Amino acid sequence: GGVVISSSGGKVYPGHMTAFVFFSCLVASSGGLIFGYDIGISGGVTSMDSFLSEFFPSVYAQAKANKEKNQYCKFDSQLLTLFTSSLYLAALATSFLAASVTRIFGRKWSMFCGGITFLAGSALNGAATNVMMLILGRILLGIGVGFANQSVPLYLSEMAPANLRGMLNIGFQLMTTIGILSANLINYATVSIEGGWGWRIGLGLAGVPALIITLGALALPDTPNSLIARGYTAEAKKVLVKVRGTSDVHDEYDDMVAASEEAKAIEHPWRNILERKYRPQLTIAVLIPFFQQLTGINVIMFYAPVLFLTIGFGGDASLMSAVITGLVNMFATIISIVSVDRLGRRALFLQGGTQMFVSQIVVGTLIALQFGTTGEGEMSRTYAMLLVLFICLYVAGFAWSWGPLGWLVPSEVFALEIRSAGQSIAVCVNMTLTFIIGQAFLTMLCHLKFGLFYFFAAWMVIMTTFIALFLPETKGVPIDEMNLVWSRHWFWSKYVVQAGGSNRRTHGV
Ligand code: BGC
Repeated sequence: GGVVISSSGGKVYPGHMTAFVFFSCLVASSGGLIFGYDIGISGGVTSMDSFLSEFFPSVYAQAKANKEKNQYCKFDSQLLTLFTSSLYLAALATSFLAASVTRIFGRKWSMFCGGITFLAGSALNGAATNVMMLILGRILLGIGVGFANQSVPLYLSEMAPANLRGMLNIGFQLMTTIGILSANLINYATVSIEGGWGWRIGLGLAGVPALIITLGALALPDTPNSLIARGYTAEAKKVLVKVRGTSDVHDEYDDMVAASEEAKAIEHPWRNILERKYRPQLTIAVLIPFFQQLTGINVIMFYAPVLFLTIGFGGDASLMSAVITGLVNMFATIISIVSVDRLGRRALFLQGGTQMFVSQIVVGTLIALQFGTTGEGEMSRTYAMLLVLFICLYVAGFAWSWGPLGWLVPSEVFALEIRSAGQSIAVCVNMTLTFIIGQAFLTMLCHLKFGLFYFFAAWMVIMTTFIALFLPETKGVPIDEMNLVWSRHWFWSKYVVQAGGSNRRTHGV
């Protein structure tokens, strides 16, 4: 009972939002807080005089002595960007370890590991008295992010009933944006603290979201898929009944067991994922996070204060502007939450991508008009306001498309046997690109000037075309039935084996 055959021929188990699934997903989503908080805090901290003079005296002296009139090159310092982006190096390395923890010990313990290391990292950072402590803290934070971003999206996608999966998964991105916004607000509030120790509050408060996910992970049940895969079948059924709010879960449960049986035959998920039949999923796992970062979003997220300073806002106003983009980011994510399971992933990608493309062209052009290629001049108020407006439109477009979908889509397209490995590839690619862009942005701004925005705009064209041609719609498809969407796709179908009806996942109508 309870099974419906959808128009595409796949089984659908209509689910509703039970209190149990809502709260489990809410708690797990809070893993996004630690990710977001960190994205938001570093930009503000690294533009604080007191922080710079204490840990990066040479950068500080240089910035003060800077007679540079060229607006594009004011803040070009590799050392400083290394502080921001070192975390992403640690995160990408950790994602592989996290893959094994997630698969062997379960999603829950991976989340717990993330919380604990993040807790240690924030303590070390808040108390830092030298650059070593600072860097060590950053590495621990990165390890935490590696665990959390590997396990949380999987947890959410596995807990959710198929028809609510988009909504529940995007809780992670919503928490990420809340993390970024709180960090921006805390930066804004602490920058003016007398005595110049405001940055300690900012860095130390990262312990709050860390504590939430650490305690949360202890209280959460693991996902039915993970429990079955690890042999806890009775427990799995109990959880499934609670999550779905009905005891009529036999068919879905049987499907999960079957998926797990198939998965058991696979002994080397890493070697396996390279097989031809997984080529569609592998392509998605690599390209979606790759493209997400090439939207250029983290230029805004990391360097909004610096960017706004560059275009002529004063110190306070620049942080204020970061708060504005932070608010837009959060509210626009909510739009994605309510529409992703109705309009589908593709519609959001295509609309959001187009909006981001247009905004980038406008931003690049506005900057070109004011600073030209020499980078000299000042931005008039009207221009500056227009610029903020289009940056906000850009952020909004990101926040209902590439932001949330960059985490949702990779987490939902894999078969169980390669899911954990696949997600760590996605995390790894994401962090690698975040690192590269974080590291290169100020130099790129200095050399490409306003062309930097055209550079990202060109990538928007490529990625939007890719989505239009190669991403099948996954809305409403049960996670263990995903093979169907590939086998029916005009391009990917030739990669997917149709094992003469013996393949459980390709049962027709
Ligand atoms: C991205 C981050 C980005 C954030 C902005 C996330 O989905 O992975 O790199 O900073 O969105 O909200």
